[in-house]
Amino acid sequence: MTRLSPTEFKARYGPWALVAGASEGLGEAFAEQIAQLGLNVALVARREALLDSLRDRLTGAYGVEVRTIPLDLAREDAPAVIAGALADVEVGLMVYNAALSIIGPFLERPLADHHAEIAINCQAPMSLAYSFGQQMRPRGRGGIILMSSLSALQGSANIANYTATKAYNMILAEGLWEELRFSGVDVLACCAGAVSTPGYLSSLSDSPSKGSPAGAMMPKAVVVQTLAALGKQGSFFPGFNSKAAAFFMRRLMPHRLAVQVMGRVMRQMYGSSSTQP
Ligand SMILES: NC(=O)c1ccc[n+]([C@@H]2O[C@H](COP(=O)([O-])OP(=O)(O)OC[C@H]3O[C@@H](n4cnc5c(N)ncnc54)[C@H](OP(=O)(O)O)[C@@H]3O)[C@@H](O)[C@H]2O)c1
Repeated sequence: MTRLSPTEFKARYGPWALVAGASEGLGEAFAEQIAQLGLNVALVARREALLDSLRDRLTGAYGVEVRTIPLDLAREDAPAVIAGALADVEVGLMVYNAALSIIGPFLERPLADHHAEIAINCQAPMSLAYSFGQQMRPRGRGGIILMSSLSALQGSANIANYTATKAYNMILAEGLWEELRFSGVDVLACCAGAVSTPGYLSSLSDSPSKGSPAGAMMPKAVVVQTLAALGKQGSFFPGFNSKAAAFFMRRLMPHRLAVQVMGRVMRQMYGSSSTQP
């Protein structure tokens, strides 16, 4: 499943992993795959009941230790709270999966919402990469995974701030990959296309076009490919569809056109703003 055997994976990225945004969807799948590889897992999200039931399932199925940290990652002190809750264990793998995905015309949302999106999607992963990276580098081993998105490749109407935050994660991971790989710390951004998660499916149910999840990947497949790519490159696109879309948008299509095409797609999916033609 990974480029490493489970024993090698645990030696390189164990004994503990942190999954931020772990209560469902991709985060839950990360926690499960990592626990299956024999690492203890710390689970962060707001919904404590979901974390508790995931903890019980993972401890029962894989015999690993699981800690739950119910927490809102929008809080300014969230990275400090997490560091405090894990001060007595060695975290060798940090997965930042949580995101706030605001859909709709930029100017029609309160500014505070956009600030919250930046806090959850940019400030928290950067701070956690910093604090756990500080611990990993002296050990000469470790891994940091940031969930980015295929949408990071160009600006996109109706999700402008979200795509900007995903571009931040991709660029941050690529830079840190090059900076830290010589010290044994692997950094990777996963730039997924559509993934069939509760968050994605509920965003479609709000959509006027009631778009279909056809072509969406399953969370487990994304996670398996992401763990396999860790250590090989700074960013990657899981699945054939996202690789093909990335190639098309980056290499074949003029960038201006790519921005316009994405805008059209978003308007079809989620409606148009009063300022859009
Ligand atoms: N699904 C897709 O199609 C897709 C495509 C490309 C990229 N991505 C990226 O993949 C990641 C996961 O997506 P997803 O679809 O699995 O999302 P999701 O279903 O919305 O789940 C996100 C997870 O993050 C947690 N979370 C959200 N806000 C939080 C907060 N303020 N504090 C603590 N935890 C929080 C949620 O738990 P609680 O609600 O319990 O807090 C949940 O466990 C995101 O970074 C997203 O940008 C997704």
